[in-house]
Amino acid sequence: MPEGDDPTGWQAFASEYIRFVDDGAPSRTMLLDDVMLDECGDVCGKLVLDVGAGEGRFSRMLAQRGARTIALDLFWPMVQVARHRSSGRDAVVRSPATALPIASSTVDTVVSYVVWVDVPDFRTAIAEAARVLKPGGQLVAANLGFITASPGWKRAPDGRRLYKPIDQYVDERPITLNWRGHNVVNWHRPLSAYMQAYLSANLILRRFFEPVPPDDTLRNNPRFEDWYRIPEFTVMRWQKPQRDAAASRGLG
Ligand SMILES: C[S@@+](CC[C@H](N)C(=O)[O-])C[C@H]1O[C@@H](n2cnc3c(N)ncnc32)[C@H](O)[C@@H]1O
Repeated sequence: MPEGDDPTGWQAFASEYIRFVDDGAPSRTMLLDDVMLDECGDVCGKLVLDVGAGEGRFSRMLAQRGARTIALDLFWPMVQVARHRSSGRDAVVRSPATALPIASSTVDTVVSYVVWVDVPDFRTAIAEAARVLKPGGQLVAANLGFITASPGWKRAPDGRRLYKPIDQYVDERPITLNWRGHNVVNWHRPLSAYMQAYLSANLILRRFFEPVPPDDTLRNNPRFEDWYRIPEFTVMRWQKPQRDAAASRGLG
């Protein structure tokens, strides 16, 4: 992407996103972190690439668990803050997810923590993640679920949430959201588009979640009840085969 070109809105939104993270980011801390950490497993001594790392929060959590991390993001404000917050032992790189500056088959784990929904050419990004993984390596990906196609809750006259209308589910398209006063583009895609992209990259699905918070006491809290009613996120763990397909057919 040329400098200054910001079709997704992330360049302008970065500072506000960092404030969202610093304010506690409940979707991360109360819903996704435990699942993501579990799926990453024991990362001690492993090389982990965090694609679309933002200001590097999850990379730092993995570094604290002994991983060597590369936090990668396309947007300078994210990269600068990630560098500032990093311990210095870990790498922070500016690059698009679609052209990783990393040699093939060198990374133990790739993390994509709610990123594909922001990347126009997500198919190339997934293929790139698969390329850099070592045979047997894992891609752990959280992403927005199918509700990106929903404009919001249909409500009763008294304000109660009734249901979320979904339409044009099958059509891949950008949706401009207003998030904390900024326009940001999220791509709506049907689940099958993502599954096909992983399968085309020759990855094997190991785990698949539509997470709900571990803390069940939040169920009756109007602020969090959405998470128990319609899954806002998916979490998947994919594995690169130990031997690539060409090699196993005797061609490699
Ligand atoms: C929803 S944020 C998630 C950030 C971080 N993973 C987290 O959980 O806090 C999406 C991130 O993807 C980055 N991003 C968007 N498009 C990208 C691209 N094409 N290549 C690399 N990073 C990108 C944004 O700058 C942003 O940091």
